[in-house]
Amino acid sequence: MNIFITGATGFVGGELLVNLTKHKEINKIYCLIRAKNEADAYQRLEHVFNFHNDYFDRNKVFPVIGNLFDDNLSSSLINNPILKDVSVIIHSAANTSFSKIYDNMVEKTNIGGLIKILIWAKQLASLETFLYIGTATICGKDISNRTILEQESPNLAANHLVKYTYTKMHGELLLHQYLPEDKILVARPSIIMGDSKNKHPRSPVILWALATIDLLRLVPINPESKIDIISVDYCAEAIVKLLFAKRNHQVYHISAGENSCTTPFKVTKSIEKHFKNRPNYEFIDKQLLNQMKLWAKNNLKHDSELYSYQKYLKYWEEIFVNVGNLRIILAGLGPYIDFIELSHVFDNTKLLEDTDIGKSIPADKYIVNSINYLERIDVFEGAKDP
Ligand SMILES: NC(=O)c1ccc[n+]([C@@H]2O[C@H](COP(=O)([O-])OP(=O)(O)OC[C@H]3O[C@@H](n4cnc5c(N)ncnc54)[C@H](OP(=O)(O)O)[C@@H]3O)[C@@H](O)[C@H]2O)c1
Repeated sequence: MNIFITGATGFVGGELLVNLTKHKEINKIYCLIRAKNEADAYQRLEHVFNFHNDYFDRNKVFPVIGNLFDDNLSSSLINNPILKDVSVIIHSAANTSFSKIYDNMVEKTNIGGLIKILIWAKQLASLETFLYIGTATICGKDISNRTILEQESPNLAANHLVKYTYTKMHGELLLHQYLPEDKILVARPSIIMGDSKNKHPRSPVILWALATIDLLRLVPINPESKIDIISVDYCAEAIVKLLFAKRNHQVYHISAGENSCTTPFKVTKSIEKHFKNRPNYEFIDKQLLNQMKLWAKNNLKHDSELYSYQKYLKYWEEIFVNVGNLRIILAGLGPYIDFIELSHVFDNTKLLEDTDIGKSIPADKYIVNSINYLERIDVFEGAKDP
């Protein structure tokens, strides 16, 4: 089996790449890498392996320099002789930003970039499987407070909280325009946060939101909302198992499901005691987020409910040199709060039936392994591109 993977320098792709190299059935792995030249490309790959001290097998893993924005990407892949015997394409590259200011970039990457890979894949005679890394959140914001099945998406009528999930939904639809049905495999992870082992996760994504919530302590979130979170190592292992499995379906949630989903209350309880000198957690109605923003602008009316939480207002005045800065992190946190409030759980029966991956460890159990990492997250830096 020869594999071509995009997004190998990313959070999920990096974990996938390292995992794939450990399988003897896989002969060669070609990685689409944005790089100035070959030396730079190798350096970027080296970083992926060095991150957790894994062995970088230069006889197995090769960079293919390219950018999803390149106009000639499809033709350069078509004309690349070393890619003639690729049997599996894993498309993990994406722009995952929730921020409106990146909407155009998100669309260009997740739709335009995907089309370029599909144009190549369509004429690749040796192709057996096109594995698209989607996202379970393509179900949109109209569904809430229940378990969601794979077959409910993609739904063109769904409304989306952010452009990112819309583009990922559109991406799934595109697969069927370019490829025969028997070559399509879709893995839809739920929310990926941290690493369940005692290892530094490859990315602070989502953990940033937790670090921010932990800093604030007064949190405008329903503490009992269900949140479907998996670790990146579980995600990668499940995807690799799916690749080798005798599959009965085309689309799989890679998720915690009803058994292993968690709640904001459980996750915050598990980390609360590790951060001394911070007030206890208090959960308040989501509507108070606006009051928090107004308070940070020094514009909150005197009779507002938020003033009944004086302990936290004083604490924020102490920790933020300029309380106006609070607005930066609240703006970044907004979409995360919206997602949490939807209380989505993604059914994982198909994954559990067709692979031996087993249930994931609940995030409230494994997150303690990331405490050291969590405390070092720069919440202001992360807020720039949530
Ligand atoms: N993280 C989650 O919670 C989550 C949840 C569900 C599904 N997913 C899906 O999992 C996949 C991977 O996400 P992730 O969290 O690993 O994202 P990530 O850490 O941001 O990694 C994105 C990867 O895509 C590459 N990429 C972006 N734009 C590119 C371009 N123009 N040309 C070539 N490569 C480009 C990046 O390369 P550079 O290093 O060069 O920037 C990087 O390798 C995505 O498809 C996402 O939708 C993620």
